Parts: sequence; structure tokens; C-alpha cells
Amino acid sequence: MAMAFKKIALVTGANRGIGFEIVRQLAIRGVRVYLAARSKGKGLAAAEKLRSQGLDVEFIVLDVSNRQSILQAFREFSEKETKLDILINNAAILIDRGSVLTLDQETLQTTMVTNVYGPLQMIQTFHPLIPKGGRIINISSGSGSLTEMNGYAPAYSISKTTLNALTRLASIELNERGVAVNSMCPGWVRTDMGGEMAPRSIEQGADTAVWLALDAPSHLTGRFFRDRAEIPW
Ligand SMILES: NC(=O)c1ccc[n+]([C@@H]2O[C@H](COP(=O)([O-])OP(=O)(O)OC[C@H]3O[C@@H](n4cnc5c(N)ncnc54)[C@H](OP(=O)(O)O)[C@@H]3O)[C@@H](O)[C@H]2O)c1
Repeated sequence: MAMAFKKIALVTGANRGIGFEIVRQLAIRGVRVYLAARSKGKGLAAAEKLRSQGLDVEFIVLDVSNRQSILQAFREFSEKETKLDILINNAAILIDRGSVLTLDQETLQTTMVTNVYGPLQMIQTFHPLIPKGGRIINISSGSGSLTEMNGYAPAYSISKTTLNALTRLASIELNERGVAVNSMCPGWVRTDMGGEMAPRSIEQGADTAVWLALDAPSHLTGRFFRDRAEIPW
């Protein structure tokens, strides 16, 4: 009987880094988590690692830069589940480190496809399955904050600012249905993207996303968080 009340989550880009850790922490808290990854081999191996620890983790193949892949993942997901309580748009790429004065449009376009069009289509496709009380969390970055941005990685920064706009817009419409939509910044975290010099552990990087998914008051929506506290756009 308890199974009917089990929360269901889906995390994109979850075969490594912060996404993998979010899956682990949610599953430890009793959530059934769909670990989504673009590589079948890497995704299955990551899911198996958590399943071998007794966690309720399912693998689903999902390339957020590919529209057909998102639709196929939705079909597969809806054959198994009737609802999605928590959607975490985590997958992202960082492919530029240069100057906005020399930023080429191809780099910007490639970045936007994964970091913005992906989360946009994920929300558009999966929102009908999200019940009242459900939560969408977009993993953003301080680099996307108009207040904090410092010139670092312009294509990445623009993509995260746009992701934050998506958070605001979706939060307004989904508020009517009691679904919260928030952005969060994990801080500078020791992952393949963050590098070895980053001060934060992966566990710390995942913490606020898990808090937003399970513990934050449900009226908090359309906001931007780091360390469980609101930060400026
Ligand atoms: N690390 C930091 O310091 C930091 C700071 C601020 C914000 N963030 C944000 O935190 C999130 C996670 O970052 P991270 O540090 O864990 O990055 P990461 O170590 O580079 O991992 C990125 C993950 O995204 C996946 N991915 C990339 N493109 C994808 C696509 N088209 N479809 C599906 N999955 C895709 C990767 O899969 P593959 O293994 O197949 O490549 C990988 O699993 C990102 O949104 C990032 O922008 C990170």
C-alpha cells in the first residue's frame, strides 16, 4: 500500500557528477528515481551501482539535445509510471571559456540546445504527468545570475540566464496547478565540469536540489537558490 505513495523523480545527465549524486540522495530518502543519461552503457552502469546498494533506481536513455530522444523517453517513462513528482533538469555542457567579444554563434547555439532547449522541451513534455505538489528544479549557475556574472564563459552564462527566465515563466503558469519551479546554483563543485580546484564536494553541490525536491516549503516557487537560501537573479 505504501508503494502507491512513493515519490517518483527523473534526473537528466545523471550518470556522473552532481546529477548522479542527486539521484543517490533522493533514492536514499525513499524516492524511486529515473537516472537519465544519453549513453546507455554509462547510464546502466551508474544505475546498477546504486541498485547494488539497494536503492530504487531505474535507468532511462535520454539525450536532452535530441527532441526525438526526449519524446521516446517520455513514452517509455509513461508506460511504467502514471505520475512524475520531481523533475530535475541537470544535464548541461560548458564548452566555452573565452570572451563575449569573440564568442562564435555556433558555440552559443550548441550550448543553448543542451542547456536551454533541452530543459524547455523536458518541461513541455513531462509537465502533464506532474501532480499538485510536484516540483521542477533547474540546475543553473551563479554564472547565469545577472547580478553575479563576471565575464566567465559567455555562452554558458547566457544559457543559464535564459534557463532562469524559463524557471520564472514556467513557475507562473504551473503555480495555478500547485507545481513549484525553481532554479538552483550548486556552487563551484569538484566534478569533471568544475575541476579539481573547486572547493565544494559533490555531496554539497547536490544538497540544495534535494532540499528543493523534498523539504522546501511548497509555496517557494519562481526563485533562485544556493545553500538553501534565495540569491539574486
Ligand atoms: N560543477 C560546478 O562547479 C557547477 C557549477 C555551477 C553549476 N553547475 C551545473 O550543475 C549541473 C551538473 O554539472 P556537473 O558539474 O555535474 O557536470 P559534469 O560533471 O560535466 O556532468 C554533466 C552531465 O551532463 C550530461 N550531459 C551533457 N550533455 C547531455 C545531453 N545532451 N543529454 C543528456 N545528458 C547530457 C553528461 O553526460 P555524459 O557523461 O554522457 O557526457 C554528464 O552526466 C550542470 O547543469 C552544471 O551547469 C555545475
